[in-house]
Amino acid sequence: MISNANPAAGPLCAALLFGGLSSEHEVSRVSAGTFVDNMDPEKYDLIKIGITKDGRWLYTEATSAQMADGSWEQLPGNMPCVLSPDRADHGAILFTPAGHVEKLRIDVVIPVLHGLWGEDGTIQGLLELAGIPYVGCGVLASAVCMDKAVANALFAYHGVPHCAWAAYTKAQLEADPAGIAAALAERLGWPIFVKPANAGSSVGVTKANGPEELAAAIRLALANDRKVVFESFVDGQEVECAVIGSEPAVSTRPGEILAGAEFYTYDDKYKNGVSQTVIPARLSEAKLDEVKALAAKAYAALGCEGLARCDFFVERGSGRVLINEINTLPGFTSISMYPKLMEHEGIPLPQLIDRLIALAMERPVACHG
Ligand SMILES: Nc1ncnc2c1ncn2[C@@H]1O[C@H](COP(=O)(O)OP(=O)(O)O)[C@@H](O)[C@H]1O
Ligand SMILES: [Mg+2]
Repeated sequence: MISNANPAAGPLCAALLFGGLSSEHEVSRVSAGTFVDNMDPEKYDLIKIGITKDGRWLYTEATSAQMADGSWEQLPGNMPCVLSPDRADHGAILFTPAGHVEKLRIDVVIPVLHGLWGEDGTIQGLLELAGIPYVGCGVLASAVCMDKAVANALFAYHGVPHCAWAAYTKAQLEADPAGIAAALAERLGWPIFVKPANAGSSVGVTKANGPEELAAAIRLALANDRKVVFESFVDGQEVECAVIGSEPAVSTRPGEILAGAEFYTYDDKYKNGVSQTVIPARLSEAKLDEVKALAAKAYAALGCEGLARCDFFVERGSGRVLINEINTLPGFTSISMYPKLMEHEGIPLPQLIDRLIALAMERPVACHG
C-alpha cells in the first residue's frame, strides 16, 4: 500500500482537470472555475489542465473567467501536457515551446469533469495506474453510477426503491421496435422517460407522452449512447442530497429542484436561470430524514467514496421516495445544488474543498484489498 500522507508541510500540488470530451464540457469549465476561486493559495499550488472537446490536454494558467468563457484554449502560454501513468513520475509531463520535456510532480488530482471520459471511471483508472490520489469516487463506483441501467439494477439488488424501468441496446431496439414499444407501454404506461444509459445534464433525455413520440425519443437517446433506459414517469418533487466521505458517508438533508421547464432540462439547469433550488426541500421533517438516510444507503450500495449527489423523486400522493440517479461528480457552478447543500449545513466552499482533498489523501491508492 502506498501512503498518501504528505509528510512535508507546505502547499500541496493539486491538479485540476477540466473541460473534457463529454456533452457537459461547458459545465465542467464553470464548475472547475469554482474550485479555482475557492482554493486557498497558501494551502495549494494549483495546476490547471484543460481537456479540449476533441481531447487535447493543455497545461494552462487561465483564470476562472477564461476557463468559463472558453477563451482559455487560445492562451499563448498553454502547453501540451499529459498525465503520466508511470508511478515514478507521479504527475504530469509538459512539452515546452522550446521542445523540452518537463516533469511536474502532483500530490492530488481534482477531476472536475462531468459525464463520459471524466465521471465514468476512465480518468479514475488512469489515476489508479499513476498512483496519484484523486478526489471523488473510484473506478467501479464512477462507472456504475454513470450507466443508468447498471445503477438501476444495483439499486434493486440493494433494496433502494426506483421507479419501473427497462433497458435495451441499439441492436435490440432496431431488431424489434414494435415488440419493444408494446412491451414498454404494457410495463411502464405513459408517459415514458427515455434516456441514453450513459449521459448527463439531461442531454438526450425525452419525456415521451405517447406511442407516437417514442421513436423520436429513442433516436435522440441513441444519438448519445448504444443503450437506452426507459422509465415510468414519476409525478413527484425532485430532491437531491449531497453526500461526502465513506464508511461512514454523511448525507445532507435534501434540497429541492423547482424545474423551470416541463422537466429539469439542460437549458433549465445551466442557461435559463429559471429553475430554483429550495433548501431544505418542502417536505416534513420525517420525510427529509427518510430521504437523507436513503441517500447514504444508495451511496454506500454503489460503492461511492469522496463525494456524490444522490437524486430522488418524492412521489406526489403516495409520498414514496424513489431514487433517480447518483452523480459522482456533481455540478459545482454557482447555482449547483451540491455546494449549496453543504453551505446550508455550515460548510462553505473553501472548507468543503479542503475536506474533499483530505479524503482523497487519506484513501489508499494502488490498494484493492
Ligand atoms: N422517471 C422519471 N420521472 C419523472 N421525471 C424524470 C424521470 N427521469 C428523469 N426525469 C426528469 O429528467 C431529468 C433528467 O433525467 P436524469 O435521469 O436525471 O438524467 P441526467 O443524468 O441527464 O441528469 C430529471 O432531473 C427529471 O427532471
Ligand atoms: Mg439528473
